[in-house]
This record gives sequence, C-alpha cells and structure tokens, in this order.
Amino acid sequence: MELRVANVRKEFERFPALNDVSLDIRSGELIALLGPSGSGKTTLLRLIAGLERPSAGSIFFGDEDASHKSVQDRNIGFVFQHYALFRHMTVLDNITFGLRIRKSSRRPEKAEIRRRALELLDLVQLSGLEKRYPTQLSGGQRQRVALARAMAVEPNVLLLDEPFGALDAQVRKELRRWLRDIHDRTGHTTVFVTHDQEEALELADRVVVMSKGNIEQVGTADEIYDKPVSPFVFGFIGQSSHLKVRIENGEVWFHDRVIGIKASDLPDGPATLYFRPHDIELTDGCSGCIAGLVTVSRRIAGTWHTEVDVGAGHEKIEVSLNADQSAALKGGRIAFRPRHYRIFPTN
Ligand SMILES: Nc1ncnc2c1ncn2[C@@H]1O[C@H](COP(=O)(O)OP(=O)(O)OP(=O)(O)O)[C@@H](O)[C@H]1O
Ligand SMILES: [Mg+2]
Repeated sequence: MELRVANVRKEFERFPALNDVSLDIRSGELIALLGPSGSGKTTLLRLIAGLERPSAGSIFFGDEDASHKSVQDRNIGFVFQHYALFRHMTVLDNITFGLRIRKSSRRPEKAEIRRRALELLDLVQLSGLEKRYPTQLSGGQRQRVALARAMAVEPNVLLLDEPFGALDAQVRKELRRWLRDIHDRTGHTTVFVTHDQEEALELADRVVVMSKGNIEQVGTADEIYDKPVSPFVFGFIGQSSHLKVRIENGEVWFHDRVIGIKASDLPDGPATLYFRPHDIELTDGCSGCIAGLVTVSRRIAGTWHTEVDVGAGHEKIEVSLNADQSAALKGGRIAFRPRHYRIFPTN
C-alpha cells in the first residue's frame, strides 16, 4: 500500500517534535528513517501507525485520509523500539495474538490461524520453536518472533522501530540481510527506523534523513552519499572533513590563496567546503591546493588516518591516505586537493 505523509506537524505540549514533514512512500518500498537521537523518527512512525494524532497535516493510506482512523482500522504491523514479546505466551501464541483478538467476523478459523503462524515461523527460520517461551530464546530469535507477530495480521504497512537495536553487531548484520530477503519475498510496504547509517544504507530502497524534526533529504543510499543536499547530511553520512573558505568571483579561497577548485555557481562570501577524507589527490607543491602539517597519524589496515594542521587558525582536518604514502607520517607536509566536494554558503 502507498503511504503519504502530507505537511504533518506534531507538538508535545508546544514542543515541536516534527515540523511540517511530507513524505511519499511507494507500495512495496522498504524505507529507512535515519537520524540522530531525538530527531523525530519514532514520532513519525507512531503517527503513521495511529498511535499519535498529528497537530496539523494528514496521513494517507492509498487514496484514503487515515488521519482519524484508529490503529486497528489502519491494519498495520508494528515492532516497537523497546518492546518485548508477551512473556507468559508461547512463541505460537505470540504470533497468533493479533488474529485471535479480532472480532469474530474478521477472525480466520482456528486451524487457519495456526497454519498461518507456522508458515511465518518457517519464514523467520524458527520452525520447531513454537512451544518455547520468550525467555527460552536468544535476543535475535525474539526479534524474529516479534517480526513474525507483526506480519501475522497481513498488514497494509509494516512499521519497525529499531527492531535490532539491542543486538550485537554480528547478529544485527545477519538479521539485516534476512529482513531484506523477507521483504523481497513478501512485498510489504515497510518503514524501518534506525540510527545506524550502515543499516539504513545497506537495507533500504530509499533513506529518509531526519534532523531536529525535519526531513533533510530523501534518496537512495547512493544519492544520499554522493549528493548530500545540506551540511548536516554530508556530516552525518559517512566520513567527512570540512574547511571554512571564501568564494570570490567563482574561485574558492582558503586564507590567502586559491585552492584550485571552482564554485562558479555560488555567490561571493563565506562558505564551507566539505569533502570525504579519502577522496583527495596529493599534489606536487602547492599552487592551488590545501597544504598542512600532519600532526596525528594512525594506521588502520591499509589506510593512514591523519589529522592535518592547515594553519590560519582553522581546526585540524582529517585526510586518509594509502599505507604506502610516506607523507602521511606524523610531521610530514602534505599538499592536496579534494576530488569530489560540496560547498555550502555560510548563512
Ligand atoms: N510523549 C512525548 N512527550 C513530550 N515530548 C516527546 C514525546 N515523545 C517524543 N518527544 C520528544 O520529541 C522529540 C523526538 O522524539 P522521538 O522519540 O521521535 O526521537 P527519535 O528520533 O526516535 O530518537 P531515538 O533515536 O532516541 O529513539 C524528542 O525531543 C523527544 O523528547
Ligand atoms: Mg526512537
């Protein structure tokens, strides 16, 4: 099912948790909401679910305005951020819960409910564990049961709030691949919250980057990484370095020299140059480059991670070099130019 969030605002006692947020989600899409703590991810998910009401704006399920529909009528599957299974129920009873509590007119036959639950158990690779209780499962297994429970009601939309948050890195990685695989097989429209960028970039068809109650950018993993639209997105996704510069007649100046890159479409004035620490070329000498002294140098596997003092009172910037480049050693002098970069005017 398609989902449309239209100019939604949410205030908690005057505190704006979401400002005028709009988002179109396609049917069958796997969308990740990504952002730092407090950026409004859970709030947006709860609004879609119907667990909160918007202060302004609407939420459409397909063509229908669902803003005033109850949680039940929206028919969603939800896995909460800190939500345990029902401890006193077996795995099977947990999974069938949402169907068993339905009004009799909408409730499938008992045998059908059981059949569906066993099929889901198979899908989440837990066949044979239906009689266990949650305490008899590992963390990863519990999360898979929670997901099976959310899918049991054949939801219009599957909403997952940091479903793997509490698990260790290795298990998270496995579950991530597995979730993508299940998504591809079942075709649910899925909205997935995470503050782990690797998780979002690897898993999602499109990533929604949020900050302070706003959507900063919506795009594929590549678009978000290659063409960040704001300093926040550039700094939040992947490694980044930045340098305060000045634009004059389409030339980029750092301190008292041009640094060999163009900004012909930008207005004159102060700006910030952003680049990836590894995405640079070393230059011979320095007519049109950035130069400085390496003050810290750490080698991790095949890469030198350095901090470079570029002078002029600027804070140190990070540059990554291959292990065979001796200029990267502490005390070395390096001159370089970013290969790809973005420049944002300073407001
Ligand atoms: N019920 C509430 N009452 C008051 N303020 C709230 C309520 N729920 C959320 N907030 C505030 O709204 C903002 C967004 O919260 P939200 O839970 O959506 O963030 P989040 O992006 O999910 O963060 P996290 O990654 O920590 O889970 C926060 O500043 C939070 O304190
Ligand atoms: Mg949250």
